[in-house]
Amino acid sequence: MINVALPKGRLGEKVYKMFAEAGYECPSILENNRKLIFENREKNVRYFWVKPSDVSIYVERGAADIGVCGKDILLEYEPDIYEILDLNMGKCRMAVASKKDFYDNTEKTLRVATKFANIAKKHYASKCRNIDIIKLNGSIELAPILDLSDVIVDIVETGTTLKENDLEVIETIVPISARLIVNKSSFKFKTEEIEKIAQGLKEQVELND
Ligand code: PRP
Repeated sequence: MINVALPKGRLGEKVYKMFAEAGYECPSILENNRKLIFENREKNVRYFWVKPSDVSIYVERGAADIGVCGKDILLEYEPDIYEILDLNMGKCRMAVASKKDFYDNTEKTLRVATKFANIAKKHYASKCRNIDIIKLNGSIELAPILDLSDVIVDIVETGTTLKENDLEVIETIVPISARLIVNKSSFKFKTEEIEKIAQGLKEQVELND
């Protein structure tokens, strides 16, 4: 049995569709209930719905053989897994944003609000810029508005949240998309099955391109 951790939510639904189109369907997953585990014995596949930021934990520790999560999570937590395929969905970018009138006084420590402390630290370390990280868990856009921070480092997808809060992107750090990740020992012991799934997904990625 191949255990697959899928990110709960809109991205997860699209990702499941891609697995189904690749031949790994599990119709019971579409039933409207609160169940978290679904399996298709005939296809030897079992899906779990997991909080998106937890997918890499399940995969790294082997509770799931494979999973799908955003590149943002991989850059932030640097889990010890193999990243084997870019699914070319869930596309967005990691960016620095601020109020429109923000002026960066480089003599001062920059106050950076973010959920992605590691990504932000690395980004500013590469520019030798002194920063003070303010770790938040959501609604990051509030921070510069209330003068809790000078800038934010956050995901920008459509740009609507920034626009509606009078903020703007001042720098893109890295493009983000969903990735297929694999537990290292599963890759060793279930190579054939995992490569078959990856190949099926790769064909879907190419078809959707
Ligand atoms: C994410 C991100 C931005 C928003 C960007 O937040 O943190 O707030 O989406 O999307 P947009 O560019 O399409 O507006 P999420 O919805 O995950 O909620 P959060 O506030 O809890 O981080």
